Amino acid sequence: MSTAMPARQQTMETILRRAPVVPVVIVHELAQAVPLARALVAGGLPAVEITLRTPVALDAIRAIANEVDGVAVGAGTVLNAADLLAAEKAGACFAVSPGHSPALLDAADDSDLPYLPGASTASEAMTLLERGYRWQKFFPAVPAGGIEFVRALASPLPQVGFCTTGGIGAASAAAWLALPNVVAVGGSWLTPMELVAAGDWAAVEALAREAAALRG
Ligand code: 3PG
Repeated sequence: MSTAMPARQQTMETILRRAPVVPVVIVHELAQAVPLARALVAGGLPAVEITLRTPVALDAIRAIANEVDGVAVGAGTVLNAADLLAAEKAGACFAVSPGHSPALLDAADDSDLPYLPGASTASEAMTLLERGYRWQKFFPAVPAGGIEFVRALASPLPQVGFCTTGGIGAASAAAWLALPNVVAVGGSWLTPMELVAAGDWAAVEALAREAAALRG
């Protein structure tokens, strides 16, 4: 039997509150995964989302889970039940989707994995609330309506806490984090392709450190 929904929601909240920013990472080379995650954790960002968008993503999650102290590694771009199962088997401690579907929510009900499904409208947020999800990814944050849109959801839906992702960067993150219904922001700006390709982990750590300081 899977862990009860309230417990999984509590764990999801704890993960989201560990730092103001969740790095959203695309790993192209498996050898990059562990040093990259170590740099993010050293910079103060322990919750790391590895997107299931490359052939090495699951192996990257496995390596990070096994080898990086203090990390909470999650699987992103979880699109179906098979992805969710594979993420759990690889050692992910949470899963994230850009949206949600009835089949995926059913699969998540049967899983022990803390899960952050995506929403980008009031109706989608309400559907997720009905299914027990207080913590939701708002995606794609900027194109789907931006700061004013998410602020407007806070009054009718104060019980929803969003991790907003998509189009957010170092310059705008603080404004998002100032919203009452934003618990964290996610983004790929911590791991620019050129720094990762060059293995410049000190620079990645510096970007993480700046992001970790965004909320006091
Ligand atoms: C994603 O899933 O791609 C994330 O939302 C990252 O978006 P960003 O690249 O705009 O930060």
